[in-house]
Amino acid sequence: MKQKITVPDILSRKHDGRKITMLTAYDYLFARLIDSAGIDIILVGDSLGTVIQGHHTTLPVTMDEMIYHTRLVSKGVENALVVGDMPFMSYQTSVSDAVYNAGRFLKEAGAEAVKVEGGTTAIDKIKAIIASGIPVMGHVGLLPQSVHQMGGYKVQGKEDTSAERIMSDAIMLDDAGVFAVVVEGIPAGLATKITAAISVPTIGIGAGIDCDGQVLVMHDLLGLTPQPVPKFVRQFAALRGLCIDAVKRFKVDVENGKFPSDDESYH
Ligand code: KIV
Repeated sequence: MKQKITVPDILSRKHDGRKITMLTAYDYLFARLIDSAGIDIILVGDSLGTVIQGHHTTLPVTMDEMIYHTRLVSKGVENALVVGDMPFMSYQTSVSDAVYNAGRFLKEAGAEAVKVEGGTTAIDKIKAIIASGIPVMGHVGLLPQSVHQMGGYKVQGKEDTSAERIMSDAIMLDDAGVFAVVVEGIPAGLATKITAAISVPTIGIGAGIDCDGQVLVMHDLLGLTPQPVPKFVRQFAALRGLCIDAVKRFKVDVENGKFPSDDESYH
């Protein structure tokens, strides 16, 4: 029988050599699929904004929307650790907003931890959330909520000063007591150094092979995403084409009077 994954289980992976797997989900159906495949962590990402809501960025996503989707996901999960992603302006505004909104993920939506973007910029909020008993996953490197400050979704940490800042952010998060750090969109060599430097697992996305785990957006992995996907995505299936084909066949059969058949009708 599979066991419930806990925060201490994730921490122990740093040293037992087993890589951590994490995928995003936004609803019950996908959460069940991912959970039955034995994935360790399900992240209810604020990528909700781009993947499900059709926005260009994650910035419009609200706390209430995150709570709604995290609730749906929690219903579908038996084993994976459920992490809720703190959306833009749910924690930047004040320490008390940060603690209150992190608490909502656990109280109202069944999450077991939250993820917060940023190092130095968010450290007072992250410390306060942890002090209130809520496990925090950090996130450094390419920070989608800072897209306008970065001037687009660009690989971070290519220059020495930016690499040093990302490294010191990761160390600061480790010292603050996060249980894992997502490292996004940075050169593989820098991710290798961060992974060696901190005591908690790194979970990479566009950060090379040496991280302690990997995360992808589920819809990218399945090949459902309409736009061209970034270089770091591997599409493990090509479901978009299959879905469009199935819908086209439905249309043709209805229009030609071939659906439903006699067997598909009640008598
Ligand atoms: O919002 C999200 O889905 C994320 C992951 C891709 C790390 O932050």
